Amino acid sequence: MLKEKFDKSGFIKLSNFIKDEEFYKLCENIDKEINLKFSQNKTYLKELGGSLMGNININTGLKGDIIWSYLKKNNISNIIKDLVGLEENEYEIFNGGNFLYHYPKSHNQLFHTDGTMYPRKIMVSLSLNYVNEKNGPTEIYEGSHKIKLPYWKFFFKYLFKKKYQLNLKIGDIFIREAFIWHRGTKNKTNKNRILINYIISQKKNDLLNYEKKQEIIFLDNMFSSTLRGRIKEFINVRLKPFYFLYRLIRSLKN
Ligand SMILES: [Fe+2]
Repeated sequence: MLKEKFDKSGFIKLSNFIKDEEFYKLCENIDKEINLKFSQNKTYLKELGGSLMGNININTGLKGDIIWSYLKKNNISNIIKDLVGLEENEYEIFNGGNFLYHYPKSHNQLFHTDGTMYPRKIMVSLSLNYVNEKNGPTEIYEGSHKIKLPYWKFFFKYLFKKKYQLNLKIGDIFIREAFIWHRGTKNKTNKNRILINYIISQKKNDLLNYEKKQEIIFLDNMFSSTLRGRIKEFINVRLKPFYFLYRLIRSLKN
């Protein structure tokens, strides 16, 4: 039943997956820790790809392991096995996350997929406090994970389709195919929004550093921190219609 739904939509939300006061407290503390780290490193973080967009990534390192232990206590391994067909020893987990700047520093992303269709990757996400329509929920097109589409085909196919908006409260989890069309939206509140994401894949992703860090660290997101990456990101943020056209035209050859 769950698997059928997951295969069809490309995602599934399990509400109240963790009901544990200790877990809520842990989330509150990690949320505080990440926000503090962010405010202490603002100058350095300006150099990261994604910082103009106001949307950067996180490696949660050992803290991520602690959160994962709560998911395991609640049988996440069985759920992954049911949905994806993989046993615990058949996948690698990257302890990631996403940090969205508060208003007015974040911007809507263009729709994209996270990486390629193969090797298949699954994301397990949870919120450290809440995600609602105001603080930058991810928007997703249901069923858009099944075939590989160039951007222009995706655009015309989904132009009038309804988007799913990912709202989460503490204790909920959300599982999705990484290769599904989605975008991050802007945060309209005055509080940063943090999502914890576990990237589950059969093979280690060459682009990710799986080494477990004691500390939580911030990483590039969508754009590299090279000059070329910064220019691309600048155009994306400040001249969005041009960047959209550039992407659309470039995809015509596919
Ligand atoms: Fe993404």
